[in-house]
Amino acid sequence: MNRGLKAGLLGLSLIAFTATAGEKEFFKYEVINGKYVEGEISADPDDKIWKTARGKDVYLYPQITVRLNDKKANSLIPKKKKVTARVKVVYNSKNIAVYVRWKDDTPSIQPVYDTDAFGDGVSVEFPNRFGKGISLPYVGMGDENHPVTVYLQKNVAGRDYQKVFISKGFGSLTEIEEDGVEISMKYNEETKEWTAVFKRPLKTDISNLKSGLVPVAFAIWDGDKYERDGNKVLSRWKFIKLGKFPINEDYVKYVSWGTPYIDWYRKDRKEDIGDPVRGKKLAIENGCNSCHRFDDQRIAPAGMAPDLSNIGVIANAVYIKESIINPNDVIIRNLNLNRHYNKGAQPDKFRAYPNNDMYQWYIMMDGKRQSKMPPFDYLSQQDINDIVAYLKTLKSWKKFK
Ligand code: HEC
Repeated sequence: MNRGLKAGLLGLSLIAFTATAGEKEFFKYEVINGKYVEGEISADPDDKIWKTARGKDVYLYPQITVRLNDKKANSLIPKKKKVTARVKVVYNSKNIAVYVRWKDDTPSIQPVYDTDAFGDGVSVEFPNRFGKGISLPYVGMGDENHPVTVYLQKNVAGRDYQKVFISKGFGSLTEIEEDGVEISMKYNEETKEWTAVFKRPLKTDISNLKSGLVPVAFAIWDGDKYERDGNKVLSRWKFIKLGKFPINEDYVKYVSWGTPYIDWYRKDRKEDIGDPVRGKKLAIENGCNSCHRFDDQRIAPAGMAPDLSNIGVIANAVYIKESIINPNDVIIRNLNLNRHYNKGAQPDKFRAYPNNDMYQWYIMMDGKRQSKMPPFDYLSQQDINDIVAYLKTLKSWKKFK
């Protein structure tokens, strides 16, 4: 690549390396540049500091891999649109602040007493550990092997609803107190936009973000659409570049694997990892569709395994690859184990049927979770790349039921 481009791309980063075309695309589309400032950072969305940081658009898509037990909320999912959020990041030697702005024509406040109405909300999550040799967590709240810290705020009547959680997956949140955290959220009636700011120390007891490339993901809840818990829109893992800290070249290689993330339908697409048409054939031949729903493959019972219909926009390519080769590294927790009953079994003395294990996504073996998905590590590298190339093209939630 040419020198000028390389310099522009890596800016002030401390080490120079030659980015490949894929890595170039990765920095262009997946990386938000943090702006370094000398002074204090304000957590006020109206502070002038936010006028000086450019930021980047991040897209959020309906979370459909894990289903909520709510017919009304689920029935709205096929009609949802992707949400565009403007994200900006500033940092100084001690703190980092992330700004998130998005459009919502109808600001919803969660009332105190009505349990059928929900407030708008937003969260930012960071993996507790990341960097060379550490795989990406499940983006929808982490997993047992990869806990994340989630900063959440919601619009709830009469109180400040701001929380920090450590999460190891849906249904396994532990609230924590973190010193130096400031969170705020404001609605602008004129522009019909919410703006939220999350400020935290770069280094806490739990995670250290003093690194050239920091994974980050976003979720937004629209109360009007009955969104709450896992029912939300979600980004894939994005990355913040903090130019004051060194960038690890191997980590860039790892997280950018499979980029360009662009439409494979684009004519000028280069360096793609595989052939999506062959990948689809392989996915069917290997029986992925007996557990997962995706594309026009709808034979698997809903909820038996994550719905992969929009996996291409919610999961990073390298994460998809690892999910196929080693399902036990990241095990997604199913939210609704109690949703399915085995009506063929004997009911207990309260006339309740036992759970139907078919819908449990893992089994416990010697105290450890084991994914129900078999590892497909015997496939050739090209086969795996073709399957990933295919899954990357999946970006629809229209057939979700
Ligand atoms: C026996 C059922 C089964 C088969 C067959 C199966 N999977 Fe899975 N898969 C699961 C389950 C259950 C999970 C969730 C638990 C976990 O994280 O491992 C999962 C998780 C995944 C994930 C992560 C999803 C997410 O939202 O993060 C991907 C990607 C995936 N599978 C792809 C595939 C592909 C590709 C194939 C075929 C080559 C396949 N699976 C075959 C059951 C299956």
